[in-house]
Order: sequence, then C-alpha cells, then structure tokens
Amino acid sequence: MTRNVLVVGGAGFIGSHTVLELMEQDFNPVVYDNLSSGYRDAVLTGNFVEGELEDKDRLVETILKFDISSVIHFAALIEAGESVLEPLRFYRNNVASTVSLLEAMQSAGLNRLVFSSTAAVYGNQSSDQLLHESLAMSPVNPYGRTKAAVEALLQDVADSSALKTVALRYFNAGGADSQARLGERHDPETHLIPLVLQTAAGRREQFSIFGDDYPTTDGTCIRDYVHVTDLAKGHIAALKHLFSLDDDDGFYQPINLGTGKGFSVREVIEAVRKVTGEDFEVGVSDRRPGDPAQLVSDPGRAREILRWQPERSSLYTIIEDAWRYMRRPAPG
Ligand code: UFG
Repeated sequence: MTRNVLVVGGAGFIGSHTVLELMEQDFNPVVYDNLSSGYRDAVLTGNFVEGELEDKDRLVETILKFDISSVIHFAALIEAGESVLEPLRFYRNNVASTVSLLEAMQSAGLNRLVFSSTAAVYGNQSSDQLLHESLAMSPVNPYGRTKAAVEALLQDVADSSALKTVALRYFNAGGADSQARLGERHDPETHLIPLVLQTAAGRREQFSIFGDDYPTTDGTCIRDYVHVTDLAKGHIAALKHLFSLDDDDGFYQPINLGTGKGFSVREVIEAVRKVTGEDFEVGVSDRRPGDPAQLVSDPGRAREILRWQPERSSLYTIIEDAWRYMRRPAPG
C-alpha cells in the first residue's frame, strides 16, 4: 500500500532531499511549506501546498484531502546565533507552530510523527564522550531550547494519547544530492561547509573561524558531519519504525543521526582545500555566541532500532557533493 506522507517544511534543505527519498521508497510526499526559507523549485516530486503551520484549518483540510497517513515535521528556524538575538521569533516558529500541528493532527485522527530535532539539545556536556540519547538535555542557546521544549511536548502528548513519534537529533547536515539536483541554499548562508566552499570558489575574500581558543585539539569547535541523503534515509527508517508499532499506545523516542566521528573547523578547511585544489585566506575572529565546543554523536541507537547507518557521510564525500552542487550549470 502506498502511503501519503505530509512533509511539513519539505521545501527546505533536509526536507527536499527527504521528499526524493520518500518517492524512491514508494511513499507519496505532500509538501506543506510557507516558503519563508524553502524554495518551491526544490520540491522535485509530489504535491505542494503553500500554507502556515498556525493555519490549523488549512492543515486539517490538507490532511483529509490527501488522505495523509503520517507526518514528517522539518519546519523551523535553525540558526543558533540568530536565536540568541530573536528568541521570541524562534519560540513562535518552532514551539507554537508545533503545538498547532499536533492539534491539527489530533483533530484529523493522525498519530504518527517524525520530528526534526538537533544535536544542539545536548549543549556543553561535562565530558567529551560521544553524546548518547540518555544524557539530560542541556542546550546552550534559544534555538536548542526550542527543540528541547518540543521534545518535552512530544513526550507529554505521547504519554497521554496514541501519538507515536521519533525525534531525530541531527548532527551537522551537509553535502547535496549526488546528482546535484538539490543542495544547500540558505540565504544568507551561515553554515561552515558552504561558506568555506564559497571562499574556495573565490566568491568570498576570506573565511573567518569563530574562535580558536576552545578546549579541543586545535582550539576550534568539533562537529559530527552527516550527509543530507543519509539523513533523508533516516527519516524513512523512522517512519517505517512508527508503522511497525502497536496502534493504541503512545510512543516517544529521541534518536541521534550522526556518524560518531568529529572534525574540527580547521580539519574541515583542510579537507575543502584538498577536494577543491584551491587555496584561500583564513582568519580567526571572536567566538560566535551559543556555539558548544564539541558535538559528536553516539550512533548506536539508530543502528539498533532503525537499522540506519550512514553511507555517504565521509567528510570528503560530503564536501565533494556540496562542491559539485555549487558548481552545477545554471538552469536553462
Ligand atoms: N563556523 C566558523 N565560521 C563560520 C561559520 C561557522 O568558524 O563562518 C564554525 C562554527 O562556529 C561552528 C562550526 O563552524 O563551530 C559549525 O557551524 P555551523 O553554523 O555550520 O553549524 P552549527 O554547529 O552551528 O549548527 C548546525 C545546525 C544546527 C544544528 C547543529 C547540530 O545549523 O541546526 O548543526 O550540531 F543544531
């Protein structure tokens, strides 16, 4: 049976790659997006509905019209630095909107949800061990706190109803579709790999490292980079897991999607130099507020429960795919 899946925020970076993967695995995606940061032309397949999450009537109407079976929820503001300056906007977009989505799902009788959470819920932990889902959440910026708040909300709703939900805690998403049909298009771009690649391409004069006095091997922050297509596959695995569960009981589980291996900002810069063959200027500026020193996943739970393992997430493949996408021929 082909299942119709509502992909909220499906016009964004990870959402649009997941739409392709859903199609490939015999699900029918229906994208619901307000296009505040996504792109209509990034939705390469399935139906598209332009709408706000706070418009509950439109959500319920869409769920019923397309006979939706389950929801994947990507729609959120994601820049940690911005969240420090504008917390209210983040709580409205990330928390209040999810309340609205859950209410719409309840009215329409839907109870399966895959939620985009983040490694940012871990914040600065006391040891530099791999981050396991059982650790207490301790986010260090409003962005991470909005995601932690939604996870608490999901747990409460699952405890009191038949909601079945997995919160996928992504580590650092990167790369692009291997055929360069889709890739990262944030505006303005703030993420490390695309910014370093833009510098390698000569579109920026210099790349600036945000702080080299962190308690890490070379003083720069360490992150766990995971390929966007691997993340997309993780969502399908999570969805299938939710469909395998008993219908009457509520269920909530956080699951990391990462590789278990971390790279410093300087290591990423070196890898970009190798992949592109370009040299470029690198400077060091102050720390960016809200950046934890190190975020590296314990990937065990995803492997055990979802049978998910990254396939394209070597740092070189991530950078090669992102580089190919950046140099794709202009459309037309
Ligand atoms: N960095 C720089 N200079 C830049 C941009 C980034 O040094 O110009 C550094 C950052 O300080 C950080 C690292 O590169 O140490 C990665 O920064 P990104 O902005 O690429 O990503 P973040 O780790 O801040 O956040 C990303 C997502 C979040 C997610 C998090 C999970 O944006 O949504 O990964 O680890 F929660």
